[in-house]
Amino acid sequence: MSALINTSYLLACFLMIVSIRSLAAPHTARRGNILGMAGMALAVAAAVMALRLPNYPLVVLIIILGAAVGTYSALKVKITALPQMIAAFNGLGGLAAVCIALSEVISSSPKNLDNTIGMIIGGLAFSGSFVAFAKLQGLITAKSVNFPLQYPLNAALFISVIALSVWFIAEPKQTLFFALTALVLILGFLLILPIGGADMPVVISLLNGGSGWAAVGIGLSLDNSLLIIIGSVVGAGGSILAYIMIKAMNRSLLNILTGGFSAHTAATPADETRTARAGAPEDAAFIMENAAKIIIVPGFGMAAAQAQHAVKTMAALLRDKYRVEVKFAIHPVAGRMPGHMNVLLAEAGIDYADIYEMADINNEFASADVAYVIGANDITNPSAKNDTSSPLYGMPVLDVAKAKTVFFVKRSLGGGYSGVDNPLFYAPNTIMLYGDARDITEKIVKVLEN
Ligand code: TAP
Repeated sequence: MSALINTSYLLACFLMIVSIRSLAAPHTARRGNILGMAGMALAVAAAVMALRLPNYPLVVLIIILGAAVGTYSALKVKITALPQMIAAFNGLGGLAAVCIALSEVISSSPKNLDNTIGMIIGGLAFSGSFVAFAKLQGLITAKSVNFPLQYPLNAALFISVIALSVWFIAEPKQTLFFALTALVLILGFLLILPIGGADMPVVISLLNGGSGWAAVGIGLSLDNSLLIIIGSVVGAGGSILAYIMIKAMNRSLLNILTGGFSAHTAATPADETRTARAGAPEDAAFIMENAAKIIIVPGFGMAAAQAQHAVKTMAALLRDKYRVEVKFAIHPVAGRMPGHMNVLLAEAGIDYADIYEMADINNEFASADVAYVIGANDITNPSAKNDTSSPLYGMPVLDVAKAKTVFFVKRSLGGGYSGVDNPLFYAPNTIMLYGDARDITEKIVKVLEN
């Protein structure tokens, strides 16, 4: 029996690792999802067999209930609400680690280090994800929450957690473990409070990694190879993703954990001597139908306006009716979550072959007639390259200014996520198309159709 269970665990791990690999490219992502589901089903079945429980029907009922909740939320969730759904699932992973660690301490002897570490990381992931979820869902303010002596309090709590853990390992009393759990939950809550809502994707990746490392701790304590392997994959995946986002935004972890851009109060004041040229959708349609090559740059505003279907129609018309070459350029941190633009463009049915990563298309702007920047701002800001005082300095950006004409579709001259002024709005080859991204694009489509 144990050989069968171990083989099932190994096969489940294999399926999940291949699943993650497949999720890396749009054309294999569907297969990746199916492999992941198969791996998870096998893992759950093997884990239930390994438990040798007295009441199997009850376990099956619980699994069915869990699956029903998961299926319902996956079907109902809007794409823009995916970050909070991930936060909620991370939190549950962390909570599971805390419950297992507590049950181990209550029911039997283990007071080992792995169990304690698993509980600490799981507890931080649980209460931290809870705050992240509440911020993203608008249940509490998304802004950075600060109060006097916040950081000394956090430092004191952190030191107390270390001290209590050492004490518990030396003298394994249940009450000490309960006190430690309570402290960890409070610390997780307080650590995430100062982080601004817009930095949540990074935090969620970190917490996701945390729930993976918590599973590793619990897996070592229970001697469960499945938890150790999958926990390591999740832990490493979440941590690497957070690192990639931090790098791509040219930020530091400390900057994010202490409030980051959201603590950055005022946007650079607009220089009043500059003027931005405004255009109408009709002008844009005329220039675009006479272009040879257009690069579309989507950003957060396209997601906010749900303009992806209109963009798809516009691109198809330009290509089929006016024989224009149309490509899409995706910045690694466009939008508010990893792959945000890829998901939206895929949802609209845009061909993957037309979608290019920044590194593969950046030098094509120089040969493009038009850059159609829809709801994007920071990811095009040239200050990231030439203004050392800019908070964006060092972040790689799309060279849209090199196109003959740059259209910016947005509602105002206001800043984006970073709140930083974008000098490109005032460039001689820029035309601002003021309005909602979907509305403007639909107006252009109407002109192109006629
Ligand atoms: P932003 O710099 O945030 O700019 C988005 C622009 O969209 C805003 O300036 C806004 O201008 C416009 N907008 C909003 N709603 C609109 C609507 N309905 N119609 C038309 N325009 C609308 O976005 P970006 O260029 O995609 O850059 C992403 C930013 O998010 C970067 O700073 C990045 O570091 C950060 N970030 C990204 C991630 C990930 S993983 N993607 C995670 C955390 C942070 P108006 O108000 O004038 O319309």
